[in-house]
Amino acid sequence: MFDNQVKVDMLVLITGATSGIGKAFADMFIRQGDTVICVGRNPSELQKLSEIAGGRAVPFTVDLAIESEIDHFLQNLREREFFPDLVINNAGFGFHGLYETAGQDCYDRMEDVNIRAVSRLTYHFYQEFLRKGAGGLINVASVAGFYPGGPLMTQYYATKAFVKSLTLGLAAENTNPAIKITALCPGPTWTGFTGMQNPRRFPFTLYMTTPEAVARQGYRDWQKGRLVSVPGMFNKIMRVLRIFVPLRLELLLIRRFQARLKGSSINTP
Ligand SMILES: NC(=O)c1ccc[n+]([C@@H]2O[C@H](COP(=O)([O-])OP(=O)(O)OC[C@H]3O[C@@H](n4cnc5c(N)ncnc54)[C@H](OP(=O)(O)O)[C@@H]3O)[C@@H](O)[C@H]2O)c1
Repeated sequence: MFDNQVKVDMLVLITGATSGIGKAFADMFIRQGDTVICVGRNPSELQKLSEIAGGRAVPFTVDLAIESEIDHFLQNLREREFFPDLVINNAGFGFHGLYETAGQDCYDRMEDVNIRAVSRLTYHFYQEFLRKGAGGLINVASVAGFYPGGPLMTQYYATKAFVKSLTLGLAAENTNPAIKITALCPGPTWTGFTGMQNPRRFPFTLYMTTPEAVARQGYRDWQKGRLVSVPGMFNKIMRVLRIFVPLRLELLLIRRFQARLKGSSINTP
């Protein structure tokens, strides 16, 4: 069952498995013969996944913004004796625009999904991993988590800084080498999140990544026991270069970059 310390034929839980990066993860694990617990709100996408994968995709319709639905989901997993080997907290959304233009409801839901649900599932499954003495966690943060702030996506950047910090803090507390924890920090990726069509031309090709490449890299880095996974050379370079840029200039450059996404429909709840 174990191959170089990494369990094969895993049971993998993925939140937000119905599209984008989460779907790319689900497809990858199903192809390699693992079983995937797929979490999302969209029943028809979940149904499609389980039809394609047969018994190897187990769908759960859960709105992660609703605490009672998370409780019910965790209870359901226990009753069916599903104890995932690897948990990928991937579901999330953002809002693009000036801070004051989104409603408070949108920010409350963003906190519920991007922060509270990630925190609850991390806590729950970390306890389970401690009991079993093994397990894996990939929390999907973002390169946004490395930057000082994200003008035009202010609240979103703040939520991703939380995910990065939570994950790295926990990884540093954990002393069991059989429990591996990685913060996956993708840069801009071609998914419904950016709401952009895929114009395979410069400059987009410079910094955009495909969801499949993000899933592959995230999984490889997790297998290697890396604390952080940053897919794409451009994102890796920017993460290092940014420390030489003065704060005000950095925020201005981020604002310019975010403005390029203007008009895109960053997925709202
Ligand atoms: N795309 C990027 O440029 C980028 C860059 C860095 C980080 N990320 C992060 O990557 C993760 C995945 O995003 P993506 O780019 O793949 O976007 P996406 O294609 O819009 O997928 C988002 C996923 O989250 C799920 N989700 C959203 N709200 C939910 C809720 N209340 N309850 C349950 N599931 C919910 C959606 O499922 P349902 O619609 O079925 O609920 C969907 O499967 C997010 O955490 C995002 O912040 C994305």
